[in-house]
Amino acid sequence: MNFYLCLASLCLGIAAAAPQLDQTLDAKWEQWKSQHGRNYGGKEENWRRTMWEKNLRMIEMHNLEYSAGKHSFRMEMNKFGDMTNEEFTQVMNGFRQNRFQRKTKGTLFREPLFEQIPESVDWRNKGYVTPVKDQGHCGSCWAFSAAGSLEGQWFRKTGQLVSLSPQNLVDCSKSNYGCEGGLMSLAFDYVKENGGIDTEESYPYEGMEGDCRYRPETAVANVTGYVNISSGDESALKKAVATVGPISVAINAAHASFQFYQSGVYYDPECSSEELDHGVLAVGYGVIKETGEKYWIVKNSWSKGWGERGYILMARDKNNHCGIATAASYPEL
Ligand SMILES: *[C@@H]1O[C@H](CO)[C@@H](O)[C@H](O)[C@H]1NC(C)=O
Ligand SMILES: *[C@@H]1O[C@H](CO)[C@@H](O)[C@H](O)[C@H]1NC(C)=O
Repeated sequence: MNFYLCLASLCLGIAAAAPQLDQTLDAKWEQWKSQHGRNYGGKEENWRRTMWEKNLRMIEMHNLEYSAGKHSFRMEMNKFGDMTNEEFTQVMNGFRQNRFQRKTKGTLFREPLFEQIPESVDWRNKGYVTPVKDQGHCGSCWAFSAAGSLEGQWFRKTGQLVSLSPQNLVDCSKSNYGCEGGLMSLAFDYVKENGGIDTEESYPYEGMEGDCRYRPETAVANVTGYVNISSGDESALKKAVATVGPISVAINAAHASFQFYQSGVYYDPECSSEELDHGVLAVGYGVIKETGEKYWIVKNSWSKGWGERGYILMARDKNNHCGIATAASYPEL
C-alpha cells in the first residue's frame, strides 16, 4: 500500500517539475530499453525517462569524481536505471531485521585460537560457490543468502557442489515473509526442522511466492543449527570466512551507489552499520596490493549483469562498513 502511495506522489512531483528531456540521449535510451526489455505506456515513458536521465547524470558525475580520486569504486547504468531509489529498496531489499519472533537462538562463533588465518581467501576458487543467481522483483535476498551458505557447508561436508533452492525457502519457511523479506537464521531453522532443502534443479526459482512443494526425495543437507559471528566484529568474521567457508551476511544496501555499483572497493560514507536491509554472502576477502585497500568479496543475487559479474568488493576493516559483520551467520551440518 505504502509502495503505491509513494509512487503516486513521486509522479506528481515530477509532473509538477515539467522535466525537459535531453534529446541527445534518445538513441541511448532506446538502446537501454531494448536491452532490458522495457515497454511503457503513455505517461509512464516520460517520467521513467526522467528518472533514467537523473540516474545517468548521477552515475556520470560519480565516475568523474572517481577519476579525480574521490571514490574507490565506479558506478554504471544497469537494469535498475528507471527505478527511483525508493522503489528499488522496496522491491529489492528483503532483509527484515526486527519483525520476527525467533524460534532458536543459534550459538556464538568460537574463534579458532591456533589456526593460521591467511591474508586472502576466495572460496570461488575452491569449488564452494555456485553461479550468481537472480532474485528478480522479489524481496527474497534472505533465501539466496541462506542457500549460498548452505551450499558452501554442503560442499565442505560432501565435496559436492549442489545448487540449492531459494524458492523452497520462499514458499515453505513460514516464519519468514517470502517475497516481503526474511532472515537467514530463520531459514536455517526451517531447514533444520524440515530435515533438508530441495535442490535448485528439483525446485526451480519462480520469483514469486507459491504453495510449498517441498519433496524429501530431492532434498539434501540436514542442518543441526546455526552459528552467529560476534556482532560487529570484522576480525571474527575474517576468521569465520577463512576457516568455515562462505558466510551469510546482512548489509545496508539502500543507497544509489550500491544500486549502480560497477567495480572497485565499495565505500559510501552514508552507509549504516545498523540499518540492515539486504542479505548477501561473504565468499572471501583480500587486499588490493597497489592501494592497500582491504575488501570483502560479496556474492549478490541480482544476476551476473550487476557489479563485478554479480559480485561486489566491500570495504573491510573500515569500522564495520555497511554492517557487514553486524548479523553474520552460517548453518551447521
Ligand atoms: C544469533 O542471531 C540471531 C539473529 O540475528 C539472534 O536472534 C540470536 O539471538 C543470535 N544468537 C546468539 C547466540 O547470539
Ligand atoms: C535428515 O535426517 C533425518 C533423520 O535422520 C532423515 O530422515 C532425513 O532423510 C535426512 N534428510 C536428508 C535430506 O538427508
